[in-house]
Amino acid sequence: MNIRNGRISDVDELTAIEAECFPAAEAAERKSFEDRLKHYADHFWILEDDNGKIISFVNGMVTDEEHLTDKMYENASMHNENGAWQMIFGVNTLPKYRKNGYAEAVLRNVISDAKEQSRKGLVLTCKEKLIHFYGKLGFVDEGVSDSEHGGVVWHEMRLTF
Ligand SMILES: CC(C)(COP(=O)(O)OP(=O)(O)OC[C@H]1O[C@@H](n2cnc3c(N)ncnc32)[C@H](O)[C@@H]1OP(=O)(O)O)[C@@H](O)C(=O)NCCC(=O)NCCS
Repeated sequence: MNIRNGRISDVDELTAIEAECFPAAEAAERKSFEDRLKHYADHFWILEDDNGKIISFVNGMVTDEEHLTDKMYENASMHNENGAWQMIFGVNTLPKYRKNGYAEAVLRNVISDAKEQSRKGLVLTCKEKLIHFYGKLGFVDEGVSDSEHGGVVWHEMRLTF
């Protein structure tokens, strides 16, 4: 297993994994991933097996905005490489590889890179059932976010260095 950053050639594999992990209303589409990879491939963290198959990945832009808003998902040009906050848009592990600690390993890598890059911290939104999972990594629940992404309720969580 190896964790690396993204490249444009990952676009089809990432789109397929996202479609397997999220309902259609929440899943990012190929065009979004293409734009994100063009603007911030280094803010994709991809765990692959020894054959180069992608098992788990995390992605998100960097911004000075303190809150994660829906417009960020589809507007990759909002990425600011020198921004204060590392946003996390998606955490995905292929279903048959879950509960092996892969998402946690990728997230720990994201946290350590964000720290090295002198960010203020990281921000994500998640469904209520995952608050405990991110809590174990140091994220603090700030309550229900304004997000209407996919028509469900999202909690905003923040890890501040
Ligand atoms: C959420 C998601 C990314 C987790 O991926 P994962 O690789 O299974 O995550 P981990 O293995 O690090 O942790 C998941 C659970 O397995 C447990 N686990 C880790 N290693 C384990 C092992 N060897 N044996 C048993 N359980 C284990 C973890 O403690 C964690 O338990 P918890 O849910 O009680 O906190 C994955 O389920 C997914 O892709 N879901 C669909 C998309 C989604 O909802 N993403 C999050 C958006 S906010």
